[in-house]
Amino acid sequence: CSYLQEKDRKTICDILVNGLARQEYRGYDSAGIGIDGDKPGEMFFFKEVGKVAGLRKKIAESNIDTTKTFLSQVSIAHTRWATHGPPSIVNCHPLKSDPKAEFTVVHNGIVTNAAALRLLLQKRGYTFESDTDTEAVAILTKYIYDSQPDKRPNFTELIKTVLKELEGSFAFVFKSSHYPNEVVTARRGSPLLIGVKTEKKLKVDFVDVEFGGPEGENKSLDALAPTSPKGLLAPPSAPPMTRTQSRAFMSEDGMPQPIEFFVASDASAIIEHTKRVLYLEDDDIAHIAEGELHIHRLRRAEGPQVAAQRTIETLEIELAEIMKGKFDHFMQKEIYEQPESVVNTMRGRVNFDQNVITLGGLRAYLPIIRRGRRIIFCACGTSYHSAIATRAIFEELTEIPVTVELASDFLDRKTPIFRDDVCVFVSQSGETADTILALRYCLERGALCVGVVNTVGSTISRETHCGVHINAGPEIGVASTKAYTSQYIALLMMALQLSEDRLSMTERRKQIIEGLHSLPSQIKKVLDGDRGLQELATGVLSNQRSLLIMGRGYQYATCLEGALKIKEISYMHSEGILAGELKHGPLALIDENMPVIIIMTQDSLYPKVQSAFAQITARKAQPIVVCNEGDDGISKNVKTIRVPKTVDCLQGLLNIIPLQLLSYHLAVKNGFDVDFPRNLAKSVTTE
Ligand code: G6P
Repeated sequence: CSYLQEKDRKTICDILVNGLARQEYRGYDSAGIGIDGDKPGEMFFFKEVGKVAGLRKKIAESNIDTTKTFLSQVSIAHTRWATHGPPSIVNCHPLKSDPKAEFTVVHNGIVTNAAALRLLLQKRGYTFESDTDTEAVAILTKYIYDSQPDKRPNFTELIKTVLKELEGSFAFVFKSSHYPNEVVTARRGSPLLIGVKTEKKLKVDFVDVEFGGPEGENKSLDALAPTSPKGLLAPPSAPPMTRTQSRAFMSEDGMPQPIEFFVASDASAIIEHTKRVLYLEDDDIAHIAEGELHIHRLRRAEGPQVAAQRTIETLEIELAEIMKGKFDHFMQKEIYEQPESVVNTMRGRVNFDQNVITLGGLRAYLPIIRRGRRIIFCACGTSYHSAIATRAIFEELTEIPVTVELASDFLDRKTPIFRDDVCVFVSQSGETADTILALRYCLERGALCVGVVNTVGSTISRETHCGVHINAGPEIGVASTKAYTSQYIALLMMALQLSEDRLSMTERRKQIIEGLHSLPSQIKKVLDGDRGLQELATGVLSNQRSLLIMGRGYQYATCLEGALKIKEISYMHSEGILAGELKHGPLALIDENMPVIIIMTQDSLYPKVQSAFAQITARKAQPIVVCNEGDDGISKNVKTIRVPKTVDCLQGLLNIIPLQLLSYHLAVKNGFDVDFPRNLAKSVTTE
């Protein structure tokens, strides 16, 4: 959205499509844009199923006048991860309320009462083109607008009324021919930020929030029923909102100035334009018009207190960090970044000379954590595996019982949570819906909530009481790699810090901290074995339908995470198996045709894994063994993947890397789209 800033249509399309390409990892079933047309109120739409590249081509091949310029304009775009309705042109966003596109919407999230809204709107004569929940929102907006012919609301009031009718999660951007050059954007449960770009200095670096009237809860659908005395035709119960001109962004001299606003789900879409960013909170409604930004809030009867200002922050990420550079894929780049990303996680936090760990974000909370009755790790996917990987060392060092929960299951069970619980939410994106919901569940019950997050400014990093940023740098590949190793280290550092005053642990802590010191060079060494892994992927493991990965103790997490990598991107069935459970079922799968990787690095459980090895070879399996360099106990006829030896609780950081590389090569060999595996998304912002 730009104001007093001449732009030609080509530039506008490029900004949108490049922004989509950078956010594509969030979902890539289809992509679309909606831009101002040639006449006032007119819009042009371009939509394509599949990746953003297809959309780019479609725009390039169209015959629109790309030289037409606009002094002020609003354009919207979206890349989709299908929830309601299959990927198709009709279901692709932006979605409009009617053929003339009086209201146009892009949406991230799920409106859970969309079916009821749809039915109601259909009864009132509105027709739908798509299967999406989003179209119901566009049409609802038009319906509410049409219902007030005598006293048209301003754009913010209109959207506020719309939002009160919606259940579920969302981040929306609304554009309308009735409100030219205006944008309303709002969030509840899905991430949303606004970038600001100006030549001049801003007079203030914050925006005051204007709280809505005391109407409280969302209206129920009954309020929409034609018989309802308080239906939508009733005048809004909220007092009209006033503008807080003085506190919106403006230049130092107070004069109108050329300015651009970028609304996006995450910063990667906009950092090539601006690093100055404002994060919206749930129930914020931002209105952008005439170069000003105003933030309003839906006041709800309950829910957490929120700040009365939103501050503009300056991001520290660089464009190069979100580009592939010399690598073929983001995933490959991110695997290779691990010698540096683990250093970044430890930077300024580990004093290797004095064996001291300082996680600044936790320091003030250490006494509360130490007094906690238990620690609960809560996460999804790879982040969950990092919690499994560090659970044992956490318990050993802190002597606090630790449980590890999958966020969705934790919520399904309505797990009892108490005020003296410490709940740790691990998330790369900080935006995973299930993890956020679990966090809010624990906040409501008074537990101390700690975030272990990669994305600065994300919902989890903002809503937790305290936490640790893992500082792995942006992770774009859908299959998480460097975030895993950094989460692992961050959790380990947490345990080390918590145990700093336990004398009995002095030696153990020293040994681990020394191990951390050698880790970057050891990771480099594992990466040097890449060619051997490529040979496995194109040799014995090529054309296999299934792969079992087994191990135990610290390596159970490695098995789970390795198997997840393999299924995510190579679509090969793969299962991580706890070797201790072998005889309780998985052994039935073993024969000469079943590919197996067994993790047999040397720790206290080595003899037990050796016995698992013996049990499967006795049944004619020919396992590939992940073992330590210099381990001579393994027969020459066995295929091995050698890794340097480190402290037992750190060994998983090295052992996972060959499995990351293996999954990468299996996917490449099969010609699969490594960074965009089918049906998946990097950041799952819906339940
Ligand atoms: C999705 C991603 C995974 C990720 C998981 C949890 O499934 O594809 O790579 O591990 O979400 O995401 P989070 O951002 O919370 O770590």
